[in-house]
Amino acid sequence: MGLNRKPKAAELLSGREGKQPNHNKKPRLKTVDLGTFSRRRGLSMEMHRNAWDAEEMAILSGKPGSCWVAAATATNYPPLEGSIHADAVVVGAGIVGLTTALRLCEAGRSVIVVEGLRTGGQVTGRSTAKITTQHALIYRHLIDTFGRDLAQTYADANSAGAVQIREWVRNYAIPCDLEAKDAYTYSCDASRRTQIVAEAEAARQVGLDADVLERAPLPFETAAALRFFDQAQFNPAMYLVGLAQAVTARGGRIFENSRAISIGEASRWRVVTDSGTVHAEHVVVATNMTVKSPVGMANRTQPRCHTAMAFRIDDPLAVDGMFIGIDDPTHSIRTGRDAEGPLLVALGPKFDTGQDGDVAKRFVELEQWARMSLPVGDVAWRWCNEDYDTADRVPYAGEPDPAKASGFHIATGFNAWGITNGTAAGTMIADLICARPSPWQKLYDPARSYPEDFHKNGRSQSFVSSLDDIVPGMGGVIVRGDEKIAAWRDTEGVLHPVSATCTHKGCTVTWNNADNTWDCPCHGSIFAADGSVIHGPARKPLAPAAL
Ligand SMILES: Cc1cc2nc3c(=O)[nH]c(=O)nc-3n(C[C@H](O)[C@H](O)[C@H](O)COP(=O)(O)OP(=O)(O)OC[C@H]3O[C@@H](n4cnc5c(N)ncnc54)[C@H](O)[C@@H]3O)c2cc1C
Ligand code: FES
Repeated sequence: MGLNRKPKAAELLSGREGKQPNHNKKPRLKTVDLGTFSRRRGLSMEMHRNAWDAEEMAILSGKPGSCWVAAATATNYPPLEGSIHADAVVVGAGIVGLTTALRLCEAGRSVIVVEGLRTGGQVTGRSTAKITTQHALIYRHLIDTFGRDLAQTYADANSAGAVQIREWVRNYAIPCDLEAKDAYTYSCDASRRTQIVAEAEAARQVGLDADVLERAPLPFETAAALRFFDQAQFNPAMYLVGLAQAVTARGGRIFENSRAISIGEASRWRVVTDSGTVHAEHVVVATNMTVKSPVGMANRTQPRCHTAMAFRIDDPLAVDGMFIGIDDPTHSIRTGRDAEGPLLVALGPKFDTGQDGDVAKRFVELEQWARMSLPVGDVAWRWCNEDYDTADRVPYAGEPDPAKASGFHIATGFNAWGITNGTAAGTMIADLICARPSPWQKLYDPARSYPEDFHKNGRSQSFVSSLDDIVPGMGGVIVRGDEKIAAWRDTEGVLHPVSATCTHKGCTVTWNNADNTWDCPCHGSIFAADGSVIHGPARKPLAPAAL
């Protein structure tokens, strides 16, 4: 393993770990309130981003990137080469993939993990990493929709996920800042107190220890709060680095920078990367959104993105607990730390990935809200993260089509609660591979029916009529005949064109002006400014294009 490395200038520009545009330019570290800037120039917020020029380009407060990933040791597993065999191949080294892999290793199975980027740097390493069975308001919904038995199974699966994490942290001595904390769901609106009371009753019906408070222990006014005792929080990137070490210590093999570009069946399952092939009886597609599935998952889910900021705080107990609001706009809050000291992490409300042309504005709003509401200092880190919602708010995990695709397993749709659900899903999949039945199979059934109008494709928000409209640091989509070209202009003014057509199913991408990525408004694929894949379902980069 290499040492934790400092981000390069190009990484500071990109805002994403793992895949970066290949341009070694220094960002101008100038903080501009976008609203003030736009008003000063007499512009609407919608127009402001096209109005920035090279000298006045806004750089948001804080370093791009997740504070958890920054605080974790960077892994350095080799890429896959040649042709190898195992009992199971796991695609993706996030919480689902590494949970599955470790449980299989513990059961004596041979396992290979192929990871497209680096271990733990994606959705898990960019989450708020609350380890809790409190998923905002969920149990009343589950009891009313599916009945008490299924709600009980959801509580059991997530309780077991939380226990599994604590056990592995202890058994494998994983340093990951695991701390016990109470979890709170709060509202600032007195009329929503009845919902909090109803949720507490529903939680108690499925055996969870919940109570209702007059207000949350937060430094701003709230009207009611639901408390779950003795939940936990950790650094998820450090946890995954520890799980990866446990996997390899038990004989599993991990290959990084090894993106699965093809998954198919020969006599066994076959996963192909650029430089190698794995053959196995079982394949587990643990890529957050499935990059391949015998039953399509992209139309059963909706990609949802959040902005996150980590602020410097003097007091590590500036807020004591983990908090999620249920009002609109909603916020999520917890504490943590990086190498330089304690942090307070705040999240903004969700939005459909690739369907907002001004993500930077969301960071400005989040910072303003945090400064008004919480005792925060400078912004240390900022990043976006996405996960997938499902219509019934329950994930999909297991074998989608055991009759036609036996041994093909998936897990997706965690509704931003995949730390415990993802651990439960990975545990369940490993047990099924070991022919041990799981009580959670029906709950997570990936082939269950779904409302076909749940998923909504979006449109690119980045069309420009001329390349001159793309100011340094920004991206825009231009139409040339039948071709749509996505062009990013670097801070020196050089344009970098790639095809704007998403390699998943052909939607046109949107420029994310905070993370400097091309985000697909249909099923949530994310590409770096140079077109390389960061997040699926796409497996292939945006095609090269010329201007
Ligand atoms: C803003 C936000 C906050 C959240 N906070 C919480 C929380 O507090 N508590 C909670 O329970 N849940 C939370 N979640 C949800 C949780 O983080 C996720 O559900 C969970 O981490 C998903 O894990 P994963 O293993 O599916 O995905 P990932 O961690 O993304 O792992 C998937 C891996 O697969 C790799 N991959 C993708 N495609 C390929 C390919 N073709 N070949 C090889 N590898 C590939 C990726 O690079 C990645 O490393 C949050 C989510 C968001 C968006
Ligand atoms: S993610 Fe499906 S078309 Fe882009």
